Amino acid sequence: MREYRSLIKTHLDKFKSMGRFDYLKLIPIYNNQKEMVGYLRPVTKDYRTSMPECAGLVAKWHNEHPEIFGHPMTVTEQTTQEWLDTSIIERDDRILFIIVAIDGAKIGHIGLSSFRYDQRCCEVDSVLRGEQSGHKRMMGFALNSLIDWGIKYLKLEDIELKVTSDNKQAIDFYRINHFYILKAHKPHEHETSPKSYTVMKLHMHRWKKENIS
Ligand SMILES: CC(C)(COP(=O)(O)OP(=O)(O)OC[C@H]1O[C@@H](n2cnc3c(N)ncnc32)[C@H](O)[C@@H]1OP(=O)(O)O)[C@@H](O)C(=O)NCCC(=O)NCCS
Repeated sequence: MREYRSLIKTHLDKFKSMGRFDYLKLIPIYNNQKEMVGYLRPVTKDYRTSMPECAGLVAKWHNEHPEIFGHPMTVTEQTTQEWLDTSIIERDDRILFIIVAIDGAKIGHIGLSSFRYDQRCCEVDSVLRGEQSGHKRMMGFALNSLIDWGIKYLKLEDIELKVTSDNKQAIDFYRINHFYILKAHKPHEHETSPKSYTVMKLHMHRWKKENIS
């Protein structure tokens, strides 16, 4: 397990450019015809200089979609920088990518988090379409690229995610993209922010059959 944990840290650190001379690495996004339609651009440690618009854009998207927090919340560029620094860059088990279309448009973000190293499992995290118009199906294609990278390079054997149970649009989106409902969590009364969420799991066998030839 320690070996696998270290494999994950090594990969995520490289993609986050934690080393001073690490190259920027992009994950290509393909459509169903295997044409490249964009790429996943990791939020790197140097995002303030290499992608100065990043925190402002993410803050704008988050303010337009308060549902992702599960409770009302307003963020600023400053608080988003703090979130990116402490909750993404500094965490060994978390990575966030900006979804960039081939024409350069930044569409949204998607990431991985919460590794269960002993099970070679992690969660798809922070899935958000920030730009609503155009680039149809880009979110699904981006999710596929992330899964492909996770299986090939992070050697994942299981992929799960959590979604609030009333988020029908997201649940439908994950269903179309080969996730099934594993269990629904009902909050206990003593929980401070009682919100029901649903755990979904990737149908790995079906996904591989459709996506790896
Ligand atoms: C969940 C979310 C990312 C889905 O994004 P999306 O834009 O619907 O996803 P895509 O870019 O893949 O586009 C989906 C479209 O392609 C269609 N589509 C997807 N797969 C398809 C397929 N195999 N065949 C035909 N059509 C398909 C869908 O029906 C949908 O069409 P519509 O826009 O006319 O409804 C987005 O709704 C979102 O950001 N929601 C707010 C944040 C959120 O709730 N995130 C989830 C947290 S767990």
